[in-house]
Order: sequence, then structure tokens, then C-alpha cells
Amino acid sequence: MKKGQRLTDLIGEEKARRGVLVLAHTYQPPAVQAAADVTGDSFALARAAKGRPEKRVVMCGVRFMAETVKLLSPEKEVLLADARASCPMAEQIEPARVLAFKKENPGVPVVAYINTTAALKAVCDVCVTSSSAVRIVSSLREKDILFIPDQNLGAWVQSRLPEKHLILWDGCCPVHRALTAADVIKAKKAHPGALLAVHPECLPEVTRLADMVGSTAEIIAYALAAERGVIIGTERGVWDLLKQRHPEKELYLLAPRKLTCPDMKYTTPRALLGCVRGAGGEIIELDPAVMRGAARCVEKMLELGG
Ligand code: 13P
Ligand code: SF4
Repeated sequence: MKKGQRLTDLIGEEKARRGVLVLAHTYQPPAVQAAADVTGDSFALARAAKGRPEKRVVMCGVRFMAETVKLLSPEKEVLLADARASCPMAEQIEPARVLAFKKENPGVPVVAYINTTAALKAVCDVCVTSSSAVRIVSSLREKDILFIPDQNLGAWVQSRLPEKHLILWDGCCPVHRALTAADVIKAKKAHPGALLAVHPECLPEVTRLADMVGSTAEIIAYALAAERGVIIGTERGVWDLLKQRHPEKELYLLAPRKLTCPDMKYTTPRALLGCVRGAGGEIIELDPAVMRGAARCVEKMLELGG
């Protein structure tokens, strides 16, 4: 038996013995995903954890994802597998800046992408995921809306909803933001006839050239259904996973040198084993007022069909 498999089996045994649930985002290394009970995008993971009997959850992802699990399951002990793992975009905007905006712009709703800290969500009106953003923004009565933090996802939503006026700030994902139209042209030349699927966190010059723009889960579904080759324009974990599970598929990674999110790669199977055994990681603790405010922001999304 290979060493990697032995470690996966050991994690499996320890999870069962200790009643621990392991969640892994699709951007995690394949060996970490292989040891998880549930894999998927951030909100799908939080939703999945809510319905599970385990009292302890280990989140292999970044901090805002572990916070979202805690918001939906406050009674569980939620552990972030590696305390260094934090989405830079989630922390780009201070709650005080939103509060100042609200004071100056009463009646303008503030929409927060799920990639935000719980403290930021707590001062916003409604949360969105990359797959629900267009639907949720469209369901708001108001025309003027502040959309934070990702200006590229915001620009994508604006392009789908010309009747709305989205106010965008300067936030972005450093990984997806690095992709350019020149990368697309190069990849299309290297793989003629292949379709292009990208995440909406990419620049408008990239989303404009894509055949499909969608969340992690939507990109996976699109790539699996496609009858032609697909160039994947999102963090490489998605491509790694697809290639491992579907080696027969013709899949290419758009600009491989740019598409690694370092924060998503901190967790290793060995460190995960330590977390399951109760050593390592960071227990997520949220201030009760932050918890109430952020939960309200997420519940509003669910109320609006997100
Ligand atoms: P998803 O919500 O599509 O999984 O995206 C999370 C993320 O971090 C995108 O970069
Ligand atoms: Fe954050 Fe971008 Fe990494 Fe996603 S890929 S976790 S948005 S930095």
C-alpha cells in the first residue's frame, strides 16, 4: 500500500473513532480532498456540515470558510486546519469603511460576497456566492447597490443586470485577477477548438472571452458535460481534481503558473491527521454580536433564494 493511501486510511479511522467531520474546498490539494468527508465550494460545505451529526468539524480551506461553517452550525466546534490560511480578498475591506458608507448613503443596500470575514458580513445587508450573486442582486428592490469586496465579480454581475447600478470598490482576488486576455489568446492557440470556462473573479477582459463564467461547482459540471476540450480558468485545485477523477477528459489549465492560491495549499494530510486527533489548527471563535450580524446577512441570502 502506498504511503499516501496509508495516511488517508489513518485519517478515515481517526475521524470515525473521534466523530470528526472533515470538509475540503475544491482548491485544496488532491490528497487532502481524498481524506475529506465532503468536498465542494465554500457555501455547499457549510450547508453540508449543518445537517451532519458530528460535533467537531475540521475545515480544510481558508478562514472565512471555517467562519461560515460556524455561522450555520454555532453548536459545533469548528477548526480551521491551518491557522495561516486566509483569503486575502476576504480581509481587504474594513467594517468601519462600510459603516461610514452606510451613514453617507442611507437606503443603499450593501451586498457582501461570501469571501468576507464574519466581522464584515455583520455590517452588510445580504451575502452572495459566486453562483447566487446575479439572482440575489436582481431580487433587490433598489437600483443603487454597494457590492463588496470583489470588483471583478461585481463587474460580472453588473454586465448581467444593466438595470442595476453597482457601486464597486477596489477589492479583488490576487489569483484570478492575474489572468489576462493575452493568457486566453495563448491558451486558445495551444488548444484550438477547446471551450473556455472561467471564474467570475477574473478580470472583465477574461470573462468577455469565455464560453462559460461560473462558480467552482458550475465549472466542474460544465467541464464534465462538455463534449469538447475545456480550458479551466480558476484555481488549479479544480483542474487537479478533474484530471485525477476523469483522466479521459480533455482538460487544460489556463496559465498554470498563475493559478495556485498559496493560502489554499497550506493544509497537508499529515497536518490534517493532527487536527483530527485534536492537535493543531485554529478553533473558530466569533464574538456573539458579530455572529448574530453575520448570520443575519447569510440568512437574508437564503431567504432570497440563494
Ligand atoms: P467558490 O465559492 O466558487 O468555491 O469560490 C471560492 C473562492 O475562493 C474563489 O476563489
Ligand atoms: Fe481568496 Fe482568491 Fe484564494 Fe479564492 S483563490 S481563497 S478568492 S485568494
